[in-house]
Amino acid sequence: MTLFTLLIFFEFLELILCRDLTLEYGHMKPFGSGRPNIEVEEFQNFPSPKIFFENNVLPMKPLIMKGAAKMSPAYDLWTDDYFLGLAIPDDNMVLVETKKKENRSQPTLDMNFQNFVKIYNKTDQYMVNPVPDFLRKDIIFPCPLQCPALTEKLLVENVS
Ligand SMILES: *[C@@H]1O[C@H](CO)[C@@H](O)[C@H](O)[C@H]1NC(C)=O
Ligand SMILES: *[C@@H]1O[C@H](CO)[C@@H](O)[C@H](O)[C@H]1NC(C)=O
Repeated sequence: MTLFTLLIFFEFLELILCRDLTLEYGHMKPFGSGRPNIEVEEFQNFPSPKIFFENNVLPMKPLIMKGAAKMSPAYDLWTDDYFLGLAIPDDNMVLVETKKKENRSQPTLDMNFQNFVKIYNKTDQYMVNPVPDFLRKDIIFPCPLQCPALTEKLLVENVS
């Protein structure tokens, strides 16, 4: 470490240690209250790809897609009974962690999906797997996320 970087380091340390953090805006206030609130635009379900792109992606503006999840059949279909009643081959394995508390050295299991559904309520095990292929048919993705060609076209048109 050169003398210069050492000096910068101590300068930085001094700055942090000497600053009275209780005087900072938002101190002891609810998380997020240190910044001004902004209105977030709401859409029923999904906006069209063009609107989504021009309104939200390009200007990096957040939005709420109200009721969007309910459009997927999964919203009503996915119950344990439904999962257990599916005719799927035995070799449909999912990755399962054995402890809910984060621990990178915990043992993991490859488990048959339906066996997992049978035991997850009674154990500490939980699934850390993408949605298995046989369940994807139950999900409707918003068009802006599933039309990469269109998104790319809009991006090229708007950025160039
Ligand atoms: C993480 O899991 C390993 C293997 O089960 C265990 O030996 C270790 O004690 C755990 N660590 C913590 C912090 O719980
Ligand atoms: C697990 O618990 C939920 C909530 O209590 C219940 O609806 C579900 O039927 C249980 N599943 C199994 C397989 O016992």
